[in-house]
Amino acid sequence: MRIYSAPDYYHASRIAANIISAQVIMKPDCVLGLATGSTPIGAYEQLVKWYEKGDLDFKEVRTVNLDEYCGLDETSDQSYRYFMNHHLFDHINIDKANTHVPSGTAADAEQACADYNEVIRSMHGVDLQLLGIGHNGHIGFNEPGEAFDKETHIVTLSDKTRQANARFWDGDLSQVPTHAITMGIKTVMQARKILLVACGEDKAQIMKDAFTGPITPEVPASVLQLHNDVVLVGDEAALQYLL
Ligand code: PGA
Repeated sequence: MRIYSAPDYYHASRIAANIISAQVIMKPDCVLGLATGSTPIGAYEQLVKWYEKGDLDFKEVRTVNLDEYCGLDETSDQSYRYFMNHHLFDHINIDKANTHVPSGTAADAEQACADYNEVIRSMHGVDLQLLGIGHNGHIGFNEPGEAFDKETHIVTLSDKTRQANARFWDGDLSQVPTHAITMGIKTVMQARKILLVACGEDKAQIMKDAFTGPITPEVPASVLQLHNDVVLVGDEAALQYLL
């Protein structure tokens, strides 16, 4: 496991964007596994800047996102499809037909999960998976206690996750969806390379638990200790127990 520490969020985001850029340059038709949340926004901004300068070309890149809220589609500004369009896809020359976010509004949710697994398989898997980490150690929406052997599936969101995300609904917990569709841990672990980004003092303890503690479904990100190509990028506050 390689760890890159930066003095602050801006510089951590630049390192993350550099690693994503390297992947795109090395393999122009690569499959990027992408993430939402506050953490990756800085990296996406940097990628957009390098694209605008002419340093990056996304025309052959394909993407799969980790997760989506059940009940929301791209018309909702809190959907993850909206997030991805807004923060990245609308600003680069990617073909939107090559961008995939699980469907949160499919009539048949089980079928939507199976279809998403098939999308990933048909692209021969993910080259580089970008991850954030929740305060409870979740990756994607794989909450504590989830079996490690799941592919895309429907999850019930934990109270902790809903409370953490209520900030996007002006703190109104009742508005936060109760379920989500997420890639499973098995899918994440099949990515050829993993880039996890964490910033802020509030992530320090879970980073310690995930990467120096026991490997357990109670801390979903701890499974990454078993992956052979993981890069951790963060600011000094988040990585303080790992340096
Ligand atoms: P955050 O979320 O980037 O908004 O902290 C991370 C996550 O919950 O995976």
